[in-house]
This record gives sequence, C-alpha cells and structure tokens, in this order.
Amino acid sequence: MKDRYGRSIDYLRISLTDRCNLRCRYCMPNGADFVPHQEILRYEEILRTARAAISLGICNFKVTGGEPLVRRGAVEFVEQLKNLPGCGQVTLTTNGVLLEELALPLARAGLDAVNVSIDALDPARYAAITGHDVLDKVLRGVRASMAAGIRTKLNCVLLASAEPEVVLLAAMAEKWPLDVRFIELMPIGEGSGGGGLSPERARALLLERWPDLHPVNERRGNGPAHYEASERLRGRIGWIDAVSHRFCDQCNRLRLTSTGQLKPCLCYDASVDLRALLRTGASDEALQAAIARAVEQKPAHHCFDKYDEITEHRRMAQIGG
Ligand code: GTP
Ligand code: 5AD
Ligand code: SF4
Repeated sequence: MKDRYGRSIDYLRISLTDRCNLRCRYCMPNGADFVPHQEILRYEEILRTARAAISLGICNFKVTGGEPLVRRGAVEFVEQLKNLPGCGQVTLTTNGVLLEELALPLARAGLDAVNVSIDALDPARYAAITGHDVLDKVLRGVRASMAAGIRTKLNCVLLASAEPEVVLLAAMAEKWPLDVRFIELMPIGEGSGGGGLSPERARALLLERWPDLHPVNERRGNGPAHYEASERLRGRIGWIDAVSHRFCDQCNRLRLTSTGQLKPCLCYDASVDLRALLRTGASDEALQAAIARAVEQKPAHHCFDKYDEITEHRRMAQIGG
C-alpha cells in the first residue's frame, strides 16, 4: 500500500503485551499499571488483523512487546502468523531473558530473525539499567538463537552510561556473526528527559578500534537502521538515529498496540481503534478500510525535534518500540 507521500507500507509491528520481565530505566523503571487481559487483543484477533493487512500488501511482521515472550502461547502465535497465506518475514524483538529455552521452538515455528536488546555487557551496569541481574542468561539466549540458525542482531540504546560499553558491544560482532545496532535514545515516555550518548560520539569511539568502519548499502531487516562494515568484523554495525537523522522519508510501517490501536506514527497518539471493530462483528472489508485509513493518516515525519508537538507520552512498552 502507498501512503499520501508515496511511501510503500509493507511492515506491521505487533505488540503482543505491555508486560515485561525487566524494568529498564528508560522504559518502565517503577513497574507499571498493566492493562487488564480483556483489553489485550486475543491471538485470533491479531491473526485476523494480520490477514487483512496481508490483503493490502502489508506482509512483513515484527512481533514485539513489552516483552513478547512473556505472553503465553507466543511461539504458537509466531507459527500461526508465519503460516498465513502471503505472509513474508516474521521477526521478533525481545530482551532475550526467555530465549535460551525458546530459541529452538521459535526456529521450528519459522521465525526469520530476532533482535535482542542488550544495553550493557558489564553485569553490574546491565543490572542497573534493567533492574535484573540476568545478563548471563540473556547471553546464553543469544547463543541459543544463533545455534538454532536464527539471524540474530543486538540492540543497544545509547544511554549516557553506554560510553564505556559501545566498544565492548561492537566487539560482539567481531566474535560472532551477528549485527550490533546502536539506537539513539528517543524522547518518549521515560526517555523524555533526554541525556543519551550521541551516535556521533559512539561512532568516534568505534573508529578508534575499527578505523576502516565504512557505510554499506545493505538491507538487513525491515527497519530504519543503516549499516557499516569493517574487515575485522564478522557482523555489521547498525545505527538507528531517529532523532538526529530523521529517516521518515523511508518509513514503511504501522504499529498495532497490544490493545488493538493501529498507530500511523510513533510520536503521535492518533490511532485507529481496530479492537472496537474486531469486537463488534465488523466485516473483513471494514477491517481493511480501517487499516487503509491508518496508512492515509501517516504524517510526513515525526516531531521528536519539536518536543511540544509530541502527543504520544505512553511508555514504549505499550507501543512496542
Ligand atoms: P529489523 O530492521 O527488521 O531488524 O527491525 P527494526 O529495527 O524495525 O526493529 P526493532 O524492534 O529492533 O527496533 C529497533 C529500534 O528502532 C527501536 O527502538 C524502535 O523503536 C526503532 N524504530 C523502529 N521503527 C521506527 C520508526 O518508524 N520510527 C522511529 N523513530 N523509531 C523506529
Ligand atoms: N529510545 C530508543 N529506544 C528505545 N527502546 C525502548 N525505549 C526506547 C527509547 N526511549 C528500545 C528497546 C528495544 C527496542 C524495541 O526499543 O531497548 O531495543
Ligand atoms: Fe522490557 Fe524492553 Fe521496556 Fe526493557 S525496554 S522494560 S526489556 S519492554
């Protein structure tokens, strides 16, 4: 489907739950008032939405959260999604806590790729960011994912405390055939205070160790990251610099929140209420028209640089990143 600005929309991010087994400082430091179960879309409601999306050419899916793997039946859901006629790639973004046990079942379910969020490799710093001392378990999850043959990337949010971590994290791409991506802190929810490490500073640190780091024009997923390579790295370094280098002219996606709101853009709270339609016996045609409406509502670009214009102040966990 094309939007008003001629962008092809073919990617839907699906948040399975707003719950999480971690408490990342910038996401849900003090826990949260989780949404009651009956307000969360049932799997069959999500699958029906996905079927309608596919009929409009939106065929690649990201399964996200909160933490998607804490929802019971997440693996079976991935399998059912992947088996929908016309479904393209199904990928998952997870904090990795449950990946050690679930990597193989996910591979068997047909999962195409996984992104694991790791914001620090120093165990104490990791625990300070996430509120849980589980770094080793997450790293076992990353290895299990690679061993299961799933394409694996790491995501690191550029918090101010990431300065001593970026070279350590990038070195994971020296040791293993995985991509390591650095995400500029976005001013949403708890990230609103700003105070992240700039991608320029992070890149300067990497250049000291890998001076031949250079951009490559490769597509390595469905998201907005751009990538760099070095002779000495087996994987790529990726950059998701939403604030400093707006990538909205390439935007290809919609977001389905766990409560069934279809969001045209990350920083505005405008959304189309699919749950109301799904629960009042709407026809497939009505569902398709509602998805098309969300595509039409996509703005030209986000407004992270003009803080007053941001109307979305929920936590990222409710949106799914
Ligand atoms: P692949 O490229 O397929 O690996 O996935 P992805 O980068 O789309 O997914 P992931 O869930 O790993 O997201 C990484 C980061 O990119 C998260 O912090 C997302 O919030 C951010 N992101 C994804 N899409 C957008 C977008 O449209 N706008 C902004 N500002 N950030 C985005
Ligand atoms: N800015 C940037 N990235 C964020 N994430 C969560 N909150 C923010 C924020 N304010 C990241 C997670 C995960 C991905 C889905 O989104 O760390 O890697
Ligand atoms: Fe959980 Fe991800 Fe939020 Fe951390 S950033 S608390 S892992 S949803």
